Amino acid sequence: MAKHPSTIAAPSRPDALANGVLEGMRKHPRQVSPVWFYDELGSFLFDNICELPEYYLTRTELQIMRQHAADMAHHIGTDAALIEFGSGTSTKTRELLNHLEKAAAYVPVDISRDHLLEAASAIARDYPTLRVIPICADFTRNFDLPVSVNAAQRRVVYFPGSTLGNFDQAQARELLQRMRQIIGRSGAVLIGIDLKKDPRVLERAYNDRAGVTAEFNVNALRHMNRELGTDFDLDAFEHLAVWVEDQSRIEMHLVSKRDQVVHVGDEDVKIEKGEHLTTEFCHKYTLESFADLAATAGLSVSRVWMDPARLFSVQLLEPRVLSG
Ligand code: AVJ
Repeated sequence: MAKHPSTIAAPSRPDALANGVLEGMRKHPRQVSPVWFYDELGSFLFDNICELPEYYLTRTELQIMRQHAADMAHHIGTDAALIEFGSGTSTKTRELLNHLEKAAAYVPVDISRDHLLEAASAIARDYPTLRVIPICADFTRNFDLPVSVNAAQRRVVYFPGSTLGNFDQAQARELLQRMRQIIGRSGAVLIGIDLKKDPRVLERAYNDRAGVTAEFNVNALRHMNRELGTDFDLDAFEHLAVWVEDQSRIEMHLVSKRDQVVHVGDEDVKIEKGEHLTTEFCHKYTLESFADLAATAGLSVSRVWMDPARLFSVQLLEPRVLSG
Protein backbone atom coordinates (compact mmCIF):
# COMPACT_ATOMS: atom_id res chain seq x y z
CA MET A 1 0.00 0.00 0.00
CA ALA A 2 1.40 3.37 -1.06
CA LYS A 3 1.86 5.83 1.75
CA HIS A 4 1.36 9.48 1.11
CA PRO A 5 4.36 11.55 2.17
CA SER A 6 2.46 14.79 2.72
CA THR A 7 -0.34 15.22 5.20
CA ILE A 8 -3.02 16.39 2.78
CA ALA A 9 -4.34 14.31 -0.09
CA ALA A 10 -6.08 15.82 -3.11
CA PRO A 11 -9.89 15.89 -3.03
CA SER A 12 -11.80 13.92 -5.68
CA ARG A 13 -12.30 15.69 -9.02
CA PRO A 14 -15.53 17.57 -9.77
CA ASP A 15 -16.09 15.87 -13.15
CA ALA A 16 -16.20 12.48 -11.45
CA LEU A 17 -18.90 13.88 -9.23
CA ALA A 18 -20.70 15.28 -12.27
CA ASN A 19 -21.03 11.78 -13.71
CA GLY A 20 -22.63 10.73 -10.47
CA VAL A 21 -25.12 13.56 -10.80
CA LEU A 22 -26.23 12.48 -14.26
CA GLU A 23 -26.53 8.91 -13.07
CA GLY A 24 -28.83 10.05 -10.27
CA MET A 25 -30.92 12.10 -12.68
CA ARG A 26 -31.58 9.01 -14.81
CA LYS A 27 -33.02 7.06 -11.90
CA HIS A 28 -36.67 6.99 -10.89
CA PRO A 29 -37.23 8.61 -8.50
CA ARG A 30 -34.39 10.90 -9.55
CA GLN A 31 -31.66 11.20 -6.93
CA VAL A 32 -29.38 13.99 -5.83
CA SER A 33 -26.59 12.97 -3.45
CA PRO A 34 -26.58 14.66 -0.02
CA VAL A 35 -22.93 15.58 -0.56
CA TRP A 36 -24.31 18.49 -2.61
CA PHE A 37 -25.76 20.11 0.51
CA TYR A 38 -22.33 21.05 1.72
CA ASP A 39 -20.78 24.06 0.07
CA GLU A 40 -19.92 27.09 2.15
CA LEU A 41 -23.55 28.22 2.48
CA GLY A 42 -24.70 24.64 3.07
CA SER A 43 -22.22 24.14 5.90
CA PHE A 44 -23.42 27.41 7.42
CA LEU A 45 -27.06 26.30 7.09
CA PHE A 46 -26.23 22.94 8.64
CA ASP A 47 -24.61 24.69 11.60
CA ASN A 48 -27.87 26.62 11.95
CA ILE A 49 -29.91 23.41 11.77
CA CYS A 50 -27.91 22.07 14.70
CA GLU A 51 -29.17 24.99 16.81
CA LEU A 52 -32.85 24.57 15.90
CA PRO A 53 -35.24 23.65 18.73
CA GLU A 54 -36.70 20.80 16.64
CA TYR A 55 -33.35 19.30 15.67
CA TYR A 56 -32.53 17.28 18.78
CA LEU A 57 -29.67 15.25 17.24
CA THR A 58 -26.60 17.48 17.66
CA ARG A 59 -27.63 18.84 21.02
CA THR A 60 -28.35 15.37 22.39
CA GLU A 61 -25.15 13.83 21.07
CA LEU A 62 -23.11 16.66 22.55
CA GLN A 63 -24.89 16.14 25.86
CA ILE A 64 -23.97 12.43 25.74
CA MET A 65 -20.36 13.34 24.99
CA ARG A 66 -20.21 15.84 27.85
CA GLN A 67 -21.68 13.33 30.25
CA HIS A 68 -19.73 10.24 29.22
CA ALA A 69 -16.51 11.33 27.48
CA ALA A 70 -14.40 10.31 30.48
CA ASP A 71 -15.85 6.81 30.37
CA MET A 72 -15.40 6.65 26.58
CA ALA A 73 -11.78 7.76 26.95
CA HIS A 74 -11.28 5.08 29.56
CA HIS A 75 -12.52 2.41 27.15
CA ILE A 76 -10.34 3.76 24.36
CA GLY A 77 -7.22 3.72 26.52
CA THR A 78 -3.88 5.49 26.28
CA ASP A 79 -1.76 6.31 23.22
CA ALA A 80 -4.62 6.00 20.73
CA ALA A 81 -4.66 7.62 17.29
CA LEU A 82 -8.08 9.17 16.75
CA ILE A 83 -9.20 9.21 13.11
CA GLU A 84 -12.35 11.26 12.58
CA PHE A 85 -14.55 10.71 9.51
CA GLY A 86 -16.28 13.87 8.26
CA SER A 87 -14.79 15.97 11.01
CA GLY A 88 -16.55 19.28 10.24
CA THR A 89 -16.01 21.65 13.14
CA SER A 90 -14.75 18.95 15.55
CA THR A 91 -16.91 20.26 18.42
CA LYS A 92 -17.81 16.85 19.84
CA THR A 93 -14.24 15.66 19.42
CA ARG A 94 -13.04 18.21 21.92
CA GLU A 95 -15.08 16.49 24.62
CA LEU A 96 -13.19 13.31 23.85
CA LEU A 97 -9.77 14.96 23.51
CA ASN A 98 -10.29 16.60 26.90
CA HIS A 99 -10.27 13.14 28.45
CA LEU A 100 -8.04 11.00 26.24
CA GLU A 101 -4.82 10.08 27.92
CA LYS A 102 -1.69 10.73 25.84
CA ALA A 103 -3.48 10.58 22.50
CA ALA A 104 -0.95 9.62 19.80
CA ALA A 105 -2.52 11.70 17.05
CA TYR A 106 -5.72 13.32 15.83
CA VAL A 107 -6.42 12.72 12.15
CA PRO A 108 -9.49 14.65 10.95
CA VAL A 109 -10.70 13.53 7.50
CA ASP A 110 -13.01 15.84 5.58
CA ILE A 111 -13.84 16.67 1.96
CA SER A 112 -14.26 20.39 2.59
CA ARG A 113 -10.69 21.72 2.69
CA ASP A 114 -11.25 25.16 4.22
CA HIS A 115 -13.46 23.80 6.98
CA LEU A 116 -10.96 21.02 7.64
CA LEU A 117 -7.89 23.21 7.90
CA GLU A 118 -9.66 25.79 10.03
CA ALA A 119 -10.91 23.16 12.48
CA ALA A 120 -7.53 21.36 12.50
CA SER A 121 -5.54 24.47 13.33
CA ALA A 122 -8.00 25.41 16.07
CA ILE A 123 -7.51 21.96 17.62
CA ALA A 124 -3.72 22.18 17.21
CA ARG A 125 -3.75 25.55 18.97
CA ASP A 126 -5.91 24.35 21.86
CA TYR A 127 -4.13 20.99 22.29
CA PRO A 128 -0.47 21.97 21.82
CA THR A 129 0.96 18.53 22.66
CA LEU A 130 -1.34 16.68 20.25
CA ARG A 131 -0.17 15.73 16.75
CA VAL A 132 -2.88 16.94 14.37
CA ILE A 133 -2.71 15.50 10.85
CA PRO A 134 -5.60 16.67 8.65
CA ILE A 135 -6.49 14.66 5.56
CA CYS A 136 -8.57 16.22 2.81
CA ALA A 137 -10.45 13.26 1.36
CA ASP A 138 -13.84 11.72 0.66
CA PHE A 139 -14.11 9.12 3.43
CA THR A 140 -16.45 6.95 1.35
CA ARG A 141 -13.49 6.17 -0.90
CA ASN A 142 -10.12 4.65 -0.11
CA PHE A 143 -7.60 7.12 1.22
CA ASP A 144 -4.12 6.76 2.66
CA LEU A 145 -3.44 7.31 6.33
CA PRO A 146 -0.19 8.82 7.57
CA VAL A 147 2.31 6.07 8.45
CA SER A 148 2.71 7.46 11.95
CA VAL A 149 -0.76 6.29 13.03
CA ASN A 150 0.42 2.70 12.69
CA ALA A 151 2.81 3.30 15.57
CA ALA A 152 -0.06 4.14 17.93
CA GLN A 153 -1.20 1.67 20.54
CA ARG A 154 -4.65 1.64 18.99
CA ARG A 155 -6.33 3.18 16.00
CA VAL A 156 -9.80 4.48 16.80
CA VAL A 157 -12.20 5.74 14.15
CA TYR A 158 -14.56 8.41 15.44
CA PHE A 159 -17.70 8.93 13.34
CA PRO A 160 -20.14 11.19 15.17
CA GLY A 161 -23.26 12.96 13.92
CA SER A 162 -25.30 9.95 12.83
CA THR A 163 -23.93 10.47 9.34
CA LEU A 164 -23.98 6.70 8.82
CA GLY A 165 -27.75 7.18 8.60
CA ASN A 166 -27.29 8.77 5.18
CA PHE A 167 -26.15 5.48 3.69
CA ASP A 168 -28.30 2.56 2.67
CA GLN A 169 -27.71 -0.87 4.17
CA ALA A 170 -25.08 -1.99 1.62
CA GLN A 171 -23.17 1.30 1.66
CA ALA A 172 -23.27 1.47 5.45
CA ARG A 173 -21.87 -2.04 5.69
CA GLU A 174 -19.12 -1.14 3.24
CA LEU A 175 -18.20 1.97 5.20
CA LEU A 176 -18.12 0.03 8.48
CA GLN A 177 -15.97 -2.61 6.81
CA ARG A 178 -13.53 0.09 5.72
CA MET A 179 -13.36 1.32 9.31
CA ARG A 180 -12.81 -2.25 10.46
CA GLN A 181 -9.86 -2.46 8.05
CA ILE A 182 -8.38 0.79 9.33
CA ILE A 183 -8.56 -0.16 13.01
CA GLY A 184 -7.08 -3.62 12.50
CA ARG A 185 -7.52 -6.30 15.13
CA SER A 186 -7.06 -4.20 18.25
CA GLY A 187 -8.68 -0.85 17.46
CA ALA A 188 -12.21 0.46 17.87
CA VAL A 189 -14.92 2.56 16.26
CA LEU A 190 -16.80 5.20 18.23
CA ILE A 191 -19.93 6.10 16.32
CA GLY A 192 -22.97 8.35 16.81
CA ILE A 193 -26.24 6.66 15.85
CA ASP A 194 -29.66 8.28 15.91
CA LEU A 195 -32.38 6.03 17.30
CA LYS A 196 -35.83 5.20 16.00
CA LYS A 197 -38.54 7.11 17.84
CA ASP A 198 -42.01 8.67 17.56
CA PRO A 199 -42.35 9.61 13.85
CA ARG A 200 -43.80 12.99 14.82
CA VAL A 201 -40.59 13.87 16.64
CA LEU A 202 -38.56 12.72 13.63
CA GLU A 203 -40.64 14.60 11.06
CA ARG A 204 -40.51 17.75 13.16
CA ALA A 205 -36.70 17.57 13.27
CA TYR A 206 -36.59 17.74 9.46
CA ASN A 207 -39.43 20.25 9.00
CA ASP A 208 -38.40 23.13 11.24
CA ARG A 209 -40.70 26.11 11.56
CA ALA A 210 -38.00 28.59 10.59
CA GLY A 211 -37.56 26.84 7.23
CA VAL A 212 -33.79 26.36 7.56
CA THR A 213 -33.93 22.68 6.56
CA ALA A 214 -35.98 23.62 3.47
CA GLU A 215 -33.32 26.16 2.51
CA PHE A 216 -30.58 23.57 3.19
CA ASN A 217 -32.38 21.07 0.94
CA VAL A 218 -32.74 23.51 -1.97
CA ASN A 219 -29.10 24.53 -1.56
CA ALA A 220 -28.04 21.20 -3.10
CA LEU A 221 -29.45 22.52 -6.39
CA ARG A 222 -27.76 25.89 -5.97
CA HIS A 223 -24.44 24.15 -5.33
CA MET A 224 -24.79 21.99 -8.47
CA ASN A 225 -25.73 25.02 -10.56
CA ARG A 226 -22.56 26.79 -9.51
CA GLU A 227 -20.20 23.82 -9.62
CA LEU A 228 -21.55 21.91 -12.63
CA GLY A 229 -23.33 24.57 -14.64
CA THR A 230 -26.75 22.95 -14.27
CA ASP A 231 -29.75 25.29 -14.36
CA PHE A 232 -32.14 24.13 -11.67
CA ASP A 233 -34.75 26.81 -10.90
CA LEU A 234 -34.50 27.08 -7.11
CA ASP A 235 -38.00 28.52 -6.80
CA ALA A 236 -39.55 25.64 -8.70
CA PHE A 237 -38.95 23.02 -5.98
CA GLU A 238 -40.58 22.46 -2.64
CA HIS A 239 -38.99 20.87 0.44
CA LEU A 240 -40.54 17.64 1.74
CA ALA A 241 -39.37 15.45 4.63
CA VAL A 242 -41.34 12.32 5.51
CA TRP A 243 -40.94 9.27 7.72
CA VAL A 244 -41.02 6.02 5.74
CA GLU A 245 -41.73 3.28 8.23
CA ASP A 246 -40.89 0.22 6.13
CA GLN A 247 -37.43 1.65 5.38
CA SER A 248 -37.02 3.03 8.89
CA ARG A 249 -35.89 6.37 7.54
CA ILE A 250 -36.66 10.02 7.06
CA GLU A 251 -36.56 10.88 3.38
CA MET A 252 -35.84 14.39 2.18
CA HIS A 253 -37.28 15.19 -1.22
CA LEU A 254 -37.57 18.18 -3.51
CA VAL A 255 -40.95 18.24 -5.24
CA SER A 256 -41.21 19.96 -8.60
CA LYS A 257 -43.83 22.71 -8.66
CA ARG A 258 -44.20 22.56 -12.44
CA ASP A 259 -43.14 20.76 -15.59
CA GLN A 260 -39.58 21.81 -16.30
CA VAL A 261 -36.44 20.92 -18.21
CA VAL A 262 -33.07 21.02 -16.48
CA HIS A 263 -29.79 20.81 -18.35
CA VAL A 264 -27.33 18.41 -16.73
CA GLY A 265 -24.14 17.94 -18.69
CA ASP A 266 -25.28 17.23 -22.24
CA GLU A 267 -28.67 15.94 -21.22
CA ASP A 268 -32.08 17.59 -21.03
CA VAL A 269 -33.76 16.23 -17.94
CA LYS A 270 -37.55 16.57 -18.11
CA ILE A 271 -39.04 16.87 -14.67
CA GLU A 272 -42.82 16.73 -14.31
CA LYS A 273 -44.98 18.79 -12.01
CA GLY A 274 -45.30 16.87 -8.73
CA GLU A 275 -42.23 14.72 -9.44
CA HIS A 276 -39.97 14.01 -6.46
CA LEU A 277 -36.19 14.22 -6.44
CA THR A 278 -34.73 12.44 -3.42
CA THR A 279 -31.88 14.30 -1.73
CA GLU A 280 -31.23 12.49 1.53
CA PHE A 281 -32.14 9.39 3.48
CA CYS A 282 -31.67 9.48 7.24
CA HIS A 283 -31.94 5.91 8.51
CA LYS A 284 -32.89 5.47 12.14
CA TYR A 285 -31.86 2.39 14.07
CA THR A 286 -32.91 0.42 17.08
CA LEU A 287 -30.09 -0.91 19.26
CA GLU A 288 -30.79 -4.35 17.77
CA SER A 289 -30.93 -3.27 14.13
CA PHE A 290 -27.66 -1.38 14.46
CA ALA A 291 -25.92 -4.26 16.23
CA ASP A 292 -27.03 -6.53 13.37
CA LEU A 293 -25.65 -4.13 10.79
CA ALA A 294 -22.32 -3.79 12.63
CA ALA A 295 -22.06 -7.58 12.86
CA THR A 296 -22.25 -7.86 9.06
CA ALA A 297 -19.11 -5.70 8.94
CA GLY A 298 -17.23 -7.81 11.48
CA LEU A 299 -17.84 -5.44 14.38
CA SER A 300 -19.60 -6.00 17.65
CA VAL A 301 -21.08 -3.41 19.95
CA SER A 302 -19.12 -3.41 23.18
CA ARG A 303 -20.60 -0.32 24.81
CA VAL A 304 -23.59 2.03 24.32
CA TRP A 305 -24.04 5.49 25.84
CA MET A 306 -27.41 7.24 25.57
CA ASP A 307 -29.25 10.29 26.85
CA PRO A 308 -31.94 9.57 29.48
CA ALA A 309 -34.76 9.84 26.90
CA ARG A 310 -32.87 7.43 24.59
CA LEU A 311 -33.15 9.72 21.61
CA PHE A 312 -29.56 9.20 20.47
CA SER A 313 -26.68 6.81 21.07
CA VAL A 314 -22.91 6.80 20.94
CA GLN A 315 -21.60 3.27 20.50
CA LEU A 316 -18.22 1.64 20.83
CA LEU A 317 -17.59 -1.10 18.28
CA GLU A 318 -14.78 -3.59 18.38
CA PRO A 319 -13.66 -6.30 15.96
CA ARG A 320 -15.68 -9.44 16.43
CA VAL A 321 -13.73 -12.27 17.91
CA LEU A 322 -14.60 -15.38 15.97
CA SER A 323 -14.99 -18.29 18.32
CA GLY A 324 -14.17 -21.89 17.55
C1 AVJ B 1 -25.64 15.22 9.03
C2 AVJ B 1 -26.70 13.37 8.04
C3 AVJ B 1 -26.69 13.60 10.40
O1 AVJ B 1 -29.40 13.16 8.82
O2 AVJ B 1 -29.95 14.53 10.38
C4 AVJ B 1 -30.06 17.58 8.92
C5 AVJ B 1 -28.26 15.99 7.99
N1 AVJ B 1 -30.41 16.72 6.99
N2 AVJ B 1 -31.24 18.02 8.46
C6 AVJ B 1 -29.23 14.21 9.45
C7 AVJ B 1 -29.54 16.75 7.98
C8 AVJ B 1 -31.44 17.51 7.29
C9 AVJ B 1 -28.05 15.11 9.14
N3 AVJ B 1 -26.78 14.33 9.13
